[in-house]
Amino acid sequence: MEERLSDDDVNVLMSSIRTGTPLAEARRQEFVVNTKALLANARSYNETCHHLADLCLEEVEKFDPAVRDDWKDGVVEEIQWWWTWINTLRRQGKLASWAHLRDRPFPFEDAVTQFPAGIALRCLNIGCGPRPDMGQQSAADIEFVHMDPLAPAYNKLMRFLNAPGGGDVVFGAVEFLGQMDLEPFDFIAAKNCLDHAYDVPRGLEQMISCLGKRGMISLGHYENEAEAQNYMGFHKWNIEVRDGRIRVWSKNASEVFDHESAGFRLEVVREDRRKASGQTHPFLDLTLIRGW
Ligand SMILES: C[S@@+](CC[C@H](N)C(=O)[O-])C[C@H]1O[C@@H](n2cnc3c(N)ncnc32)[C@H](O)[C@@H]1O
Repeated sequence: MEERLSDDDVNVLMSSIRTGTPLAEARRQEFVVNTKALLANARSYNETCHHLADLCLEEVEKFDPAVRDDWKDGVVEEIQWWWTWINTLRRQGKLASWAHLRDRPFPFEDAVTQFPAGIALRCLNIGCGPRPDMGQQSAADIEFVHMDPLAPAYNKLMRFLNAPGGGDVVFGAVEFLGQMDLEPFDFIAAKNCLDHAYDVPRGLEQMISCLGKRGMISLGHYENEAEAQNYMGFHKWNIEVRDGRIRVWSKNASEVFDHESAGFRLEVVREDRRKASGQTHPFLDLTLIRGW
């Protein structure tokens, strides 16, 4: 494979992404393994990422025409990040493991016993990324909805890059869950996602609005991640716990969530975790529980 893509290659690549037509296996491997070749041809790579971002923004603006500009900029960066990560894992021979992420145990299995036996439960995995990694093995019958505002891009990208473990992500964002005609959920999980949203207080309110009377919301986030990331990309909001309550704050807003008035109890686990970058940072596991 040459280091630089020919014009012909660029056309094949672009048309495959645009139309969603998979490339022949041999052709796909040529494109996928050589990130350098893709990056060398900045026009094609950037154009492709912007095209995928536009697909998502078109959908988001149908629900919310007033979405913030800096969030829109973050969309392209997020797509680029996943594209690079997929290629890195493939080179390291680790990508195949994505096919088995959902075979692991359901992370909230202990809470399943809080619901009457024999009824079907529903779990929303919001902001799930291109390859939802929530374990789905449970003694209960659980319907999973994996949702992300970048679903139109992620599903295409995963198919195009022939990456396992995705392709079935449903479109939606925390800010407009209430407009999406969803049946109530028993579990809602947001991992490393709520602080990527453009209106976090509204997102939290919307999550609560689509939770059943008895249910739990799990928020798993690095503490004050926007500060740690210097407000780059999607990182515009911080999450922390102050005096036993969840506080969300950005450069020009700050809100404390009064969970007791909203009928919840809050469980907090704070522990140091190592990020993909190798750095250690406090991670907050926040569980809001209503009804038991
Ligand atoms: C760091 S990734 C985390 C993906 C996955 N939860 C995980 O832990 O692997 C952040 C995700 O949040 C999503 N996101 C950004 N804004 C969002 C919003 N307003 N509502 C829901 N998800 C959002 C992004 O598209 C991205 O897929």
